[in-house]
Amino acid sequence: MTKKRILITSALPYANGPVHIGHLAGVYVPADIYARYLRLKGEEVLFVGGSDEHGVPITIKAKKEGVTPQDIVDRYHGIIKKGFEEFGISFDIYSRTTSSTHYQTASDFFKTLYDKGEFVQQTSEQYYDEEVKQFLADRYITGECPHCHAEGAYGDQCEKCGTALSPTELINPKSAISGSKPVLKETMHYYLPLDKHESWLREWILENHKEWKSNVYGQCKSWLDMGLLPRAVSRDLDWGIPVPVEGAEGKVLYVWFDAPIGYISNTKELCAKQPEKYGNYEKWWKDEDTRLIHFIGKDNIVFHCIVFPAMLKAEGSFILPENVPANEFLNLEGDKISTSRNWAVWMHEYLQDFPGKQDVLRYVLTANAPETKDNDFTWKDFQMRNNSELVAIYGNFINRTLVLTHKYFDGKVPSVDKLTEYDQLTLKEFADVKVNVERLLDNFRFRDALKEAMNLARIGNKYLADTEPWKLAKTDMARVATILNLSLQISANLAIAFEPFLPFSSTKLRSMLNMSSFDWTDLGKVDLLKDGHQINNAELLFEKIEDEAIEAQINRLVRIKEENEKMNWKPAEVKAMTTFDDFMKMDIRVGQVLECFKVPKADKLLQFKIDDGMGGRTIVSGIAAYYPEPEKLVGTKVCFIANFPPRKLKGVESQGMLLSSESADGTLQLVRPADNVENGCSIG
Ligand code: MF3
Ligand code: ZN
Repeated sequence: MTKKRILITSALPYANGPVHIGHLAGVYVPADIYARYLRLKGEEVLFVGGSDEHGVPITIKAKKEGVTPQDIVDRYHGIIKKGFEEFGISFDIYSRTTSSTHYQTASDFFKTLYDKGEFVQQTSEQYYDEEVKQFLADRYITGECPHCHAEGAYGDQCEKCGTALSPTELINPKSAISGSKPVLKETMHYYLPLDKHESWLREWILENHKEWKSNVYGQCKSWLDMGLLPRAVSRDLDWGIPVPVEGAEGKVLYVWFDAPIGYISNTKELCAKQPEKYGNYEKWWKDEDTRLIHFIGKDNIVFHCIVFPAMLKAEGSFILPENVPANEFLNLEGDKISTSRNWAVWMHEYLQDFPGKQDVLRYVLTANAPETKDNDFTWKDFQMRNNSELVAIYGNFINRTLVLTHKYFDGKVPSVDKLTEYDQLTLKEFADVKVNVERLLDNFRFRDALKEAMNLARIGNKYLADTEPWKLAKTDMARVATILNLSLQISANLAIAFEPFLPFSSTKLRSMLNMSSFDWTDLGKVDLLKDGHQINNAELLFEKIEDEAIEAQINRLVRIKEENEKMNWKPAEVKAMTTFDDFMKMDIRVGQVLECFKVPKADKLLQFKIDDGMGGRTIVSGIAAYYPEPEKLVGTKVCFIANFPPRKLKGVESQGMLLSSESADGTLQLVRPADNVENGCSIG
């Protein structure tokens, strides 16, 4: 690598909700691994993050809650920033797009492009709410979907059938602000003419960046092949950065115009605060010797590979990204993660539920990273990877090595006596770890790099299991010394190899080994701990995660799913018409429970003895799951069909059928007539 320094950015999360594991796996964990790795190598690195605090969804959320957009972004910026800190995402700066530096920077950026004539102005007709005197963002217009005719479709999409819409397609459009019927009104906007940038973009991406990940390259290619169109970079809205030119009153910068400039603003803010450490921001943004890398999710590809580069190019003095290693999506227990449906594992909640276990989640998210395709997070897999990988392999190896060193050598690194053939073989196996991990990390293959590091732990664990030093202590202490020396060297290597991935555990391991400092170039060395070096007490590096903790998480998700199902529940379609005569054939009556108990060897069935006013009858009903204490039903009035042909259920003859209702979540409950109706009375 000949270039001097690396500027790493990670997508600025919208400050209208907390960060979840999908964000972490797709963007922040890989970006952090990369930043830590390069720092460990002694490279000059700047890792920028921040909150994206503009855009329509924030204004909608504010309106719903009756607070200001600033209240919303203050709340979530706080939660997100604190969460990242605790989770160990090692940003050099985490700022926000409502900062004054950002207002100034984004505003100036727009002004420069405007003055250079890089925008075109176009007038179009857009919906306008005459009551509140406001143009309406697509999300602020609702109406009937022209495709599936569902009510409440939005101006940009029908959530029922998923079709992308434009607001003028809606039938009976309504303003979501006042409820009034919006009118079409002309409005002018500034457009970035991407069509004019198409040819250099084609060459820059399709010819010069064939090494980009295939998912990224492929998406760019399909955008470019469809042909680029001018994109509006302003909006009629009162939340955002005002368009800084005359005649643009009431207009703000489109959120996707200002947000990526946030990377620049935040760099500026940091450089202004710590010039001795970081130099000036131009060094990071305007020097060809800087490698700019954007970490993002797949939904951000077009903005980072096409729109933002076009903005930078139009400005003229900025470098372009060298790579954009975008990831696919992470699903949760088989379903798409969704903030609005609360279908997520939230970073701040994880930190509360699993204190001190940042590395476990970092490990699982990296091992399952959606690098080439969408992937799935499940709590069972989380538990399995902790218990049978982190605890059983890495943790177990470290613990045995340290405990045995204390037991036999008072915690002092013993000297190597002589190496056996098996020792040599083991050493050879881990000699390549450094090269392998490096090659993989340099190519943004974090999953495989982690596997490689874990492999080293596996080698160590196997080495101890095979050599069994605890059995040799009585007969061959020199051999025990050699084995433990090698194991300690492997342990020290593990602290280095895992540092980018599992920084908390590496710090802990380092202090247990009493290693003062290390860097990446030490990886692969077998003399990291000198003979006689005193190590500290052994503590557990990882702890087993019990079933109860996992069940609590799974139960939480089950509850959320039930709530969502209830919220989306609609009555079933009415059945085909029946006739009065058919109805009159049914003999429905009131009865009273005399006895009620579970049918032996049948999970679902309850057996009822009913007083039907005609000498009594037996009815079997499949509702046992909903009445765990069937004896309590004795005495209650029920409704039953009296002229239903008898049939045998699990050997019991059922003479009729009890009526029950089915709730939204599928729960069955007996229909109960009033208590003062005599048994045997008919219903109709
Ligand atoms: N807020 C956007 C999202 O979550 C990402 C913005 S990235 C930036 O999808 F480049 F605009 F900063
Ligand atoms: Zn629809």
